[in-house]
Amino acid sequence: MLGKYFSHSGKLLPVKKAKISIDNIEFTYGFGVYENLRVRKGKIFFINEHVERLFKSAEMIELKHNFNFEEIKTAIEKLIKKNRLEDCNIKMLLIGGEKPDLYIICLAPKFLDRKFYKQGVKVITENHERFLPQAKTLNMLPSYLIFKRAKEQDAYDVLLLDKENNIVEGARSNFFAIKNKTLYTTPVEKVLDGVTRRTVIDCAKRNGYEVVEKDIELNDLFNYDGAFLTSTSGKIVPIREVGEGGFEGICEELKELMKFYSGCLK
Ligand code: PDD
Repeated sequence: MLGKYFSHSGKLLPVKKAKISIDNIEFTYGFGVYENLRVRKGKIFFINEHVERLFKSAEMIELKHNFNFEEIKTAIEKLIKKNRLEDCNIKMLLIGGEKPDLYIICLAPKFLDRKFYKQGVKVITENHERFLPQAKTLNMLPSYLIFKRAKEQDAYDVLLLDKENNIVEGARSNFFAIKNKTLYTTPVEKVLDGVTRRTVIDCAKRNGYEVVEKDIELNDLFNYDGAFLTSTSGKIVPIREVGEGGFEGICEELKELMKFYSGCLK
């Protein structure tokens, strides 16, 4: 955790005073939803989109609460100020129950080594379909175990495959393939509606790319010019190696898109 304070349902408290009762069944059974967002140079990125998605995730698991957008925004701003942080990640955790709790904490920002944006990353694959893929819930055990396997193999993430061997998404990211100036990505109904996914699509369209939502088969992957993952922490991360196979390098259209996206974020 970063900073000496966290926020509990709008109240700033010292991290040392944080406690969760061990008989809180909603917490121990993971009846909750969460979000991660970026703060850089004091700017909070995509707060509306993240809070909206937090509420959507809550609705999907019938987690009722009375928190509203303004309250959450104010709590985040107060927390950053109190912790005197310019650069951090913010994690929001909404736990259900009779009296729902909203925890907001500051975390150290994660940066991927620059070389990976130039040469691409390694990913592995796994047959796994997430439960309620459109909701960001605390049901994280499968994802934790799958991601652990990736770390053991020095891979950046895991491409999750459905029963038809389509690449649906990354364990912690959205997946895209690219051919010429067209991006292909899994239909949004089947994945988490990533904030980065959405903003990359928007930025790509504004810069003359076409975007097609369709299933992408693993066996067909190397017929594309390239592939990449998107997430809040990584932004656009090009893929180089997929298990035994790989792309030769990063195609020009993807390099260009990465440049356009940096511009779109300013
Ligand atoms: N994960 N898909 C899944 C399954 C994710 O967990 C995430 C984000 C994304 C990307 O969404 P966004 O662009 O809004 O970050 C897609 C974050 C990093 C997390 O688990 O904390």
